Amino acid sequence: VLRPWKMLLAERIDKAGDSPVYMQIIHALIHEIQRGRLLPGTFLPSSRDLAQAIGVNRKTIVLAYEDLIAQGWLTSAGTRGTIVATSLPDIRLQRAQSHQGMPAPEFGHVDYPFRHAAELPPRDWTLKLDEGSPDGRLFAPEVLARAYRGAVNRAARENRLLYGDPRGSILLRAAIADMLRTQRGLIATADSICITRGSQMAVFLAARILLRPGDAVLVEALTYQPAVAVFNECGAKVVPVGLDRQGVDVEEVEQMCRRYRVRAIFLTPHHQFPTTVALQPDRRLRLLELARQFDFAIIEDDYDHEFHFESQPLLPMASYAPERVIYVGSLSKLLLPALRIGYIFAPPKVVEALAQQVMLLDSMGNTLTEDAAADLIESGEVRRHVRKVTQVYAARRRAFAQSLSQDLGALTDFDVPDGGLAFWVRFRDAATVDRIETRAQALGVWLAPSHSFVTRPDAARGLRLGFASLTEDEARDGIRRLRKAAAP
Ligand SMILES: Cc1ncc(COP(=O)(O)O)c(C=O)c1O
Repeated sequence: VLRPWKMLLAERIDKAGDSPVYMQIIHALIHEIQRGRLLPGTFLPSSRDLAQAIGVNRKTIVLAYEDLIAQGWLTSAGTRGTIVATSLPDIRLQRAQSHQGMPAPEFGHVDYPFRHAAELPPRDWTLKLDEGSPDGRLFAPEVLARAYRGAVNRAARENRLLYGDPRGSILLRAAIADMLRTQRGLIATADSICITRGSQMAVFLAARILLRPGDAVLVEALTYQPAVAVFNECGAKVVPVGLDRQGVDVEEVEQMCRRYRVRAIFLTPHHQFPTTVALQPDRRLRLLELARQFDFAIIEDDYDHEFHFESQPLLPMASYAPERVIYVGSLSKLLLPALRIGYIFAPPKVVEALAQQVMLLDSMGNTLTEDAAADLIESGEVRRHVRKVTQVYAARRRAFAQSLSQDLGALTDFDVPDGGLAFWVRFRDAATVDRIETRAQALGVWLAPSHSFVTRPDAARGLRLGFASLTEDEARDGIRRLRKAAAP
């Protein structure tokens, strides 16, 4: 236990040096406190142990400790020993903010990001108008805690707290296969499911097995930027295609297939991201014909099919063409984003290829979280939760539409979405969006920038505003702030 202390101090102490040893110890300890390696509240070794460890007289250590206590760097914790004073500012935090003491990296060939890939909201926002997240406050923590407890006990009993299947926990794969069979019309079995850490990882894995550098991948002119970032990262050529209120423009898809070696298209057919429109059945069928003709895969991101308020949800494309589709889903909306559970449904051979990629990345998922999620699905907790929140979200959706009409109706054009958790708001005048985006932060409201959805300059920018994660009052407040920001 004393080795680190020995290393910390011994090399800084020169017994033959000019300055007294106790003073050198004082300087060495202050130095370690200042650079944040010794944090407030840390216990120091006893004077006897430290004296022995660094080979000095015990009185020397006692003298140094006394001096540091007198100067306020250390405090006596009575019979329990001596600690680094807790009244010191949290040096760890300062360090994290300033990067002080950390050398600049010298790996010149690393491609450092110039901004966060997902343009994360700053810490000090007061109101976040997200792109359609659930309200995490509505999920009872004790239900989750119980599921985790059960998962720990069961996995321990079955000796499964070891390395496991890269496709994920068999319990969760079976539970998700069951859910997809009954709710999404997919002919799923546990072998056709690969669990991932969120659907973001699922898209990444799909891209890894489908795309080689230079291959083309089609995306819509307005789409989900984190998926585009993945395709770029894989060295693919990202080719935008147009879309309208019926979904993606299939004629343009055909043109691009004639021009490029297209290997995949990324789509959110159920609720187009960000515009929320559903891809119409005739276009779905035409796309499948094109996929067969030009031999490309459809990455179908079915990210928020669980919430529908008007009509029954359309079945996913994977339900009628599983051989052409890599179907991606997520528990982020159904349960909680922080669980980081996504999944892929695909033919078992494809799942094997995905599993090989998982082995390269993180070997396997988190057995306990996955087992806990399986338990929540099987015990009916998820069903109960969805029933409860759907009512809450339905009311929030109505109230949100009302606030939007009242406060921004004159400037905007929007449809109330049939399902999903967000509105797509178009603006009559592009200058209004610019004003909102420039002033939003000063008004304490965060929203995803309109340009983050755009992959082709001719696409009409808009704002995607989630209605589910805020209470009606919070949302009203947010929309009023947008109205202020929009004022000429
Ligand atoms: C289009 C789309 N896909 C997927 C996701 C879910 O991502 P994840 O499962 O990684 O939390 C989101 C979440 O906002 C989304 O908007």
